[in-house]
Amino acid sequence: ISDEVLNNNYKSPRDIDGHGTHVASTVAGGEVQGVSYGGLGMGVARGGAPRARLSIYKVCWLGGNCPEAAVLAAIDDAIYDGVDVLSLSLGGAGQELPGTLHAVQRGISVVFAGMNDGPVPQTVSNTLPWVTTVAASTIDRSFPTLISLGNKEKLVGQSLHYNASVISGDFKGLVYAGSCDTESSLALSNVTGKIVLCYQPAAANSMPPPQALPIAINLTIMAGAKGLIFAQYTTNLLDFLPLCKGVMPCVVVDFEIAHRIASYWRSDKGNAVVKVSPAMTVVGKGVLSPRVASFSSRGPSLLFPSILKPDIAAPGVSILAAEGDSYAFNSGTSMACPHVSAVTALLKSVHPDWSPAMIKSAIVTTGTYIAILKIHQNSSVTDRFGMPIQAEAVPRKLADPFDFGGGHIDPDRAVDPGLVYDVDAREYNKFFNCTLGYVDGCESYYLNLNLPSIAVPNLKDHVMLRRTVTNVGPVEAIYHLVVEAPAGIDVSVEPSVINFTQSGSKMATFMVTFTTRQRVQGGYTFGSLTWSNGSTHSVRIPIAVRTVIQDFVADTA
Ligand SMILES: *[C@@H]1O[C@H](CO)[C@@H](O)[C@H](O)[C@H]1NC(C)=O
Ligand SMILES: *[C@@H]1O[C@H](CO)[C@@H](O)[C@H](O)[C@H]1NC(C)=O
Ligand SMILES: *[C@@H]1O[C@H](CO)[C@@H](O)[C@H](O)[C@H]1NC(C)=O
Ligand SMILES: *[C@@H]1O[C@H](CO)[C@@H](O)[C@H](O)[C@H]1NC(C)=O
Ligand SMILES: *[C@@H]1O[C@H](CO)[C@@H](O)[C@H](O)[C@H]1NC(C)=O
Ligand SMILES: *[C@@H]1O[C@H](CO)[C@@H](O)[C@H](O)[C@H]1NC(C)=O
Repeated sequence: ISDEVLNNNYKSPRDIDGHGTHVASTVAGGEVQGVSYGGLGMGVARGGAPRARLSIYKVCWLGGNCPEAAVLAAIDDAIYDGVDVLSLSLGGAGQELPGTLHAVQRGISVVFAGMNDGPVPQTVSNTLPWVTTVAASTIDRSFPTLISLGNKEKLVGQSLHYNASVISGDFKGLVYAGSCDTESSLALSNVTGKIVLCYQPAAANSMPPPQALPIAINLTIMAGAKGLIFAQYTTNLLDFLPLCKGVMPCVVVDFEIAHRIASYWRSDKGNAVVKVSPAMTVVGKGVLSPRVASFSSRGPSLLFPSILKPDIAAPGVSILAAEGDSYAFNSGTSMACPHVSAVTALLKSVHPDWSPAMIKSAIVTTGTYIAILKIHQNSSVTDRFGMPIQAEAVPRKLADPFDFGGGHIDPDRAVDPGLVYDVDAREYNKFFNCTLGYVDGCESYYLNLNLPSIAVPNLKDHVMLRRTVTNVGPVEAIYHLVVEAPAGIDVSVEPSVINFTQSGSKMATFMVTFTTRQRVQGGYTFGSLTWSNGSTHSVRIPIAVRTVIQDFVADTA
């Protein structure tokens, strides 16, 4: 760390840009009533494990990143201090921090953000097998904002616009200025005093909305506009809107709504007017969630394709948590990570004898992958409309294990998983040796490492691998196998029934054989393997398999 960087930072654990405060309050913040952002998202704020104690190590410096030596020194200090969980909302490509193994071998769970380089595949970071790697998802809250056109049409976008006095409440002139990405395009339209519509779907191809929106906000403010309506494809942009705070209302809309506004502007050229009302907060039913956030980094892991990552998804979009002397919305896998750290701490307090691998297994195997949209209840019937969880990308798609591992975190189910996939932390030493490249048998070791997931990146014909489950539920239990085979792959499992008895072992080993039916250089297909006791205990692990017929040929060949 240079003197220049040091001089721009507090020389203490106090954080300077709010990131540390935000994640700390998400893990363990005490209960605070009446928290909101200008009235939006009003409610009680608290961390996931409010009675946990925090030990904070400053390793990231504004303007100086998070040097690996600082992170390793902090991990050493934390081990010495006797922490139970390490929550690491940091890291990134090429910085895998194998030093975290020291913590795991002392029984400390390590939870990492999977980073924010999605929706591009193969971008997930922090993918060591002994850590929990977290993807980010949306929550069931939105901020609909009414847009009224001069022709009495009423349309809805989303914003964080709460300050009615920023705009007088009257209709303002509407001007459509294309993609708003250059000063000259705005100058041509004369946006001064007007509400500007920025809408050009084709431009999103060369500049994605998270890059284009800050530019549009900057240019429209500089040009003297009084409001911005920005068209975007499915992504998460609300966090940028505080840039408009106190200046003008800024609303994001989808292309369909933007198209209707543009049509109105064309039909009423010169006289078109529009009004933007303050945002409302909608929570719960009707908000399609969770969805994996577009920015959330995706698998497979480039470094370790045999280790399925990320492990689990957790809330990480527009999270309202402490920042500076107030509360602010932030989005990122940095925000998702402390949710999982808090659940990890809670699981650890309920099951103090569980290893980090057992806790991670409980979280991964109980993840939700079907979102229950609505529950209608009347006197006699209960209808549940289940919908597979989606992942935001271009285009939006159904989420697969490379988006969210075992699914979306479900703490209530994780506390009582029935079975867990445990790993003796000494076994990871071999992994470390394998990454250094001077040992044999690594392929077989990777396949048989007892993780709560299976990834086979190079299936030639068939392969057999082993897993062992440990019963942490009632001592007498019978589990039946349910397999969802990846497309084009046959899966056989032996045995297919496990009978835990009073006198027998708490552990059961089973063999899984994958046989490919396709003879093409394939992409990944996905499936799952579930042990079910017929009711509450359904222990599901995700599977990703890729068929190859030629070595050293990439997907694109
Ligand atoms: C609302 O905006 C007005 C005008 O910019 C400003 O004076 C006022 O402080 C803002 N109020 C809040 C609560 O931000
Ligand atoms: C732009 O519009 C404003 C407000 O209507 C007007 O005062 C200004 O002269 C116009 N500028 C140009 C360059 O036409
Ligand atoms: C817009 O960007 C320019 C150049 O970086 C900067 O000087 C200006 O302050 C920005 N304006 C606003 C309103 O953010
Ligand atoms: C890892 O490599 C070291 C150094 O060669 C060796 O001493 C150790 O036994 C190896 N451990 C495993 C589990 O392979
Ligand atoms: C499970 O084991 C118990 C005790 O050996 C036995 O009584 C029972 O029949 C077994 N159940 C199944 C389904 O195999
Ligand atoms: C499955 O496990 C749950 C939780 O222990 C138990 O309540 C339930 O009876 C079991 N189901 C069957 C069919 O044994």
